[in-house]
Amino acid sequence: MVSRVIPVDPFDLVIFGGTGDLARRKILPGLFRRFCAGQMPKGARVIGAARGDMDSAAYRDFVAEAIAEFGGIHSCEEGTLAGFLERMEFVTIDARGDKGWDELAKLVRPDVVRAYYFSVGPSLFADLAHRLNAHGLTDADSRIVVEKPFGRDLPSAKALNRDLAMHFDESQIYRIDHYLGKETVQNLMAVRFGNMLFEPLWNSQYVDHIQITVAETVGVGGRGEYYDKSGAMRDMVQNHLMQLLCLIAMEPPSKFDPDAVRDEKLKVIRALDDVEPYHIVRGQYEASESEPGYREAVGDPRTRTESYIAMKVGISNWRWAGTPFYLRTGKMLKARSSEITVVFKELNHSIFGEQSDHRNVLSIRLQPNEGITLGVTIKEPGPGGMRLVDVPLDMSFAEALGADGADQTDAYERLIMDVIRGNQTLFMRGDEVEAAWAWTDPIINGWEARGEVPKTYDAGSEGPVDAVQLLARDTRVWRKVAP
Ligand code: BG6
Repeated sequence: MVSRVIPVDPFDLVIFGGTGDLARRKILPGLFRRFCAGQMPKGARVIGAARGDMDSAAYRDFVAEAIAEFGGIHSCEEGTLAGFLERMEFVTIDARGDKGWDELAKLVRPDVVRAYYFSVGPSLFADLAHRLNAHGLTDADSRIVVEKPFGRDLPSAKALNRDLAMHFDESQIYRIDHYLGKETVQNLMAVRFGNMLFEPLWNSQYVDHIQITVAETVGVGGRGEYYDKSGAMRDMVQNHLMQLLCLIAMEPPSKFDPDAVRDEKLKVIRALDDVEPYHIVRGQYEASESEPGYREAVGDPRTRTESYIAMKVGISNWRWAGTPFYLRTGKMLKARSSEITVVFKELNHSIFGEQSDHRNVLSIRLQPNEGITLGVTIKEPGPGGMRLVDVPLDMSFAEALGADGADQTDAYERLIMDVIRGNQTLFMRGDEVEAAWAWTDPIINGWEARGEVPKTYDAGSEGPVDAVQLLARDTRVWRKVAP
């Protein structure tokens, strides 16, 4: 199998926040890998822009260090890094003042694709959009890329959408949810809509319930200040888990086209039921031997922000009414493991008489060990009658696809190239983001109004015990959180 590199047009990519953490860890190393893969054409340039004083030579050193630290293993020929660094420029810029804008206007070329990556806090989005426009740095083909969090509730998301819409058309705005750039997340669509096998069974008549788990082993680390204002609901559920839920629950779009896909996702979000307070479990991790507990990590012994959330969600439409979706995500859990599990119903009649609980389970592992396992029921070998046993049909993408399966393009590099190509399929549309907040807000407002305090859970565990109860009440069990 050969991985194909789709050529892109020459571009100028300006990264506001070009010396920030995201640029260092993800954007710049990702661009370098695209360069190595031959996808950055001659005439493609990257311009870092940030508040601090720095010249282009110092920026190139900064980029080289970022690549050394986060570039990953890649077979780039000698001299390639130097070739990449030649494409780098830097401008000191003030998002809220005039400093640097004339200089940037001189650097950016009007005859190539112009993309502006807002890798800064959302409070600067409106200023940047305004100044780009005021300094004549945009035309109808220019694009902006905006990072999460896109607002912290519906009113702030609406205000951001309004601010950006004053200067850019929706077709120019690329709202990043990096989960959509993950290879295996896109595979959800391939598995569902590229196979005849699953789709006829993909509904409440055959599916008992669906579990979506995004478990992390890391704590909040140095991001305590941001995280404590967000919590797992705003940081993960409103965006990443919501996107997974949409892809697993949506109707087949008529084609793989940005608006066709996003229209179907939007319908799922709009069909989500309100969530009952007793269908939500929130948690905070306790200290482990090596790491402080959540409250200590964020420096507030009385914080009520959750580092874990589990919830039961219903979708009121013809396909899914009656099939619950159980979502959970948390920090400092037993294993880093993201997976979606579709648990099918029991047979409506067994010709083998009473045999305890056999059912098909389809598990899609998003990370790590990307792959699919389908649990099928077969005869237990040997004499002694017709005894049934469940066995896994297990496929790891890395094994099935060889080197191409193992060498997965990072979400950011894929998404940045999609911006340059002008493909919005894997980006969130404004109405989608607003619909997600419209569903999320009453849930958060509810627990704030009731003054609910999260349960505690041990670091390295599978989360609070109450989460087990959430499913036990429905006579169901969570999948094990295992790598
Ligand atoms: C980010 C969240 O969007 O996603 C983080 O802000 C989280 O809190 C991260 O750790 C998880 O991403 P990934 O790609 O490591 O699963």
